[in-house]
Amino acid sequence: MKKTENRKMNLDTKIALITGANTGIGNALTEKLIAENYFVIGTSRNGKIESINSENLFVVELDLTNQKSIENANKIIRNKFKGIDILVNNAGIGPDLGKREPDLESLRLTFETNVFGLVNFTETVLDFVNENGKILNISSIMATLNLISKMDSTAYRMSKAALNMYTKTLSARLKDRNIDVNSIHPGWVNTRLSREGAPLTTEFSANGIFKLIETKMETGTFWNAELQEKMLW
Ligand SMILES: NC(=O)c1ccc[n+]([C@@H]2O[C@H](COP(=O)([O-])OP(=O)(O)OC[C@H]3O[C@@H](n4cnc5c(N)ncnc54)[C@H](OP(=O)(O)O)[C@@H]3O)[C@@H](O)[C@H]2O)c1
Repeated sequence: MKKTENRKMNLDTKIALITGANTGIGNALTEKLIAENYFVIGTSRNGKIESINSENLFVVELDLTNQKSIENANKIIRNKFKGIDILVNNAGIGPDLGKREPDLESLRLTFETNVFGLVNFTETVLDFVNENGKILNISSIMATLNLISKMDSTAYRMSKAALNMYTKTLSARLKDRNIDVNSIHPGWVNTRLSREGAPLTTEFSANGIFKLIETKMETGTFWNAELQEKMLW
């Protein structure tokens, strides 16, 4: 277990809620934000994040496909905190990644997590996001209609395109509360989801996402964390 340096919380300490904080990009972003003096509420399906040991991390069990789990997580977070400054919807799956033909089972599984679960959870905690807060939806370049060269991974691409539309509609709804909502492509990152061949480390991607968190991105837009630039939908 990595011992991440503990920082004292004060009134200025920002609170970030990250889903899927136990592995991959979510885990590296959790470490990065703690190192940058944020307090992180990290979710995982088994209620544990064993790789990080810090007083500035609070772990909550959450399975996005389970209504009871969403309600419990919401209750626990509200009992313990007064509000959150940043919500990072990072948890996601890609059972049909690399497959040429779509199959119904992958479509169902992917949409249950990447779309229905994500939207359900976000709507449940929405009133708990502080004014001037941020919501980052971890999307993918694989959803961009303008850049598609390979016609594979149908369920995954469709789920992230649907997520991008949620970013857009939610950003309009939250303008009066000054909450920015953006989709982020984290880069092609070496994780369990991407399997072999991905060139970027989770630390590199987390640094890029952190820079975007600290940047004023126009709400309702799509950003590339590797290149630090706005993307086409
Ligand atoms: N890696 C890339 O190149 C890449 C590129 C573009 C976008 N992305 C996106 O980046 C995000 C993070 O992916 P990753 O690459 O870091 O993959 P990863 O290591 O597999 O992490 C995925 C995370 O999502 C969690 N998760 C899966 N199903 C869940 C559910 N039903 N409820 C709650 N949590 C659930 C996983 O928890 P468990 O450990 O319990 O399964 C895990 O923490 C995803 O949204 C992915 O689509 C990744």
